[in-house]
Amino acid sequence: MKKLRIGFLASHNGSNMQAIIDAIKKGELDAEPAVVISNNSNAYALERAKKEGIPAYHISSKHFETEEQLDQEILNTLIKHNVNIVCLAGYMKKIGPKVLAHFKNRVLNIHPALLPKFGGKGMFGRYVHEAVLKAGEKQSGCTVHIVDEHYDHGKILGQRVVPVLAEDTVETLSQKVLEEEHKLYPEVLQKIANGEIELD
Ligand code: GRF
Repeated sequence: MKKLRIGFLASHNGSNMQAIIDAIKKGELDAEPAVVISNNSNAYALERAKKEGIPAYHISSKHFETEEQLDQEILNTLIKHNVNIVCLAGYMKKIGPKVLAHFKNRVLNIHPALLPKFGGKGMFGRYVHEAVLKAGEKQSGCTVHIVDEHYDHGKILGQRVVPVLAEDTVETLSQKVLEEEHKLYPEVLQKIANGEIELD
């Protein structure tokens, strides 16, 4: 298989993206960061990209008349940078059909819960952890999955589990889960790189 060239889409902090870049720099992940795209001009993910010398683009629906044009621009940018796998890393927008078709089974996402539980529309950020705590779950964790046209729905590629303790709050739980996310995403990508996980 060709070396993974990762296109990142991130809306905010980009700590998962950073964890992947760091794993590459440490030699734990055989891949190259190719490009970073954000819908948010203030995203720290764009700053991180600049610091790392990775081409970075702010591509927002505000710049286009239709969602289709936005979808096409994102696709063109990914192709221009020879991306062969797309990693959503806290990207708050739905991926358009052109990107999904071109990168069929090659758009990944990380979700801060053990899917198929606690996923779907509106299940992001603190809402996920609030729901986990409210349901009295004994464990939570994170999931890397293939993105399809439904929210948090595609094939699950890997999970990491954390215990939920009686004293956990949204803050402590999200912190514990995020630490596992930073391990899980590079791990899954390395399994793809070495053929342990097949995407097709
Ligand atoms: C993570 O919790 C991830 O599971 C979710 O969005 C958050 C992104 O955090 N999809 P960061 O931007 O990678 O720091």
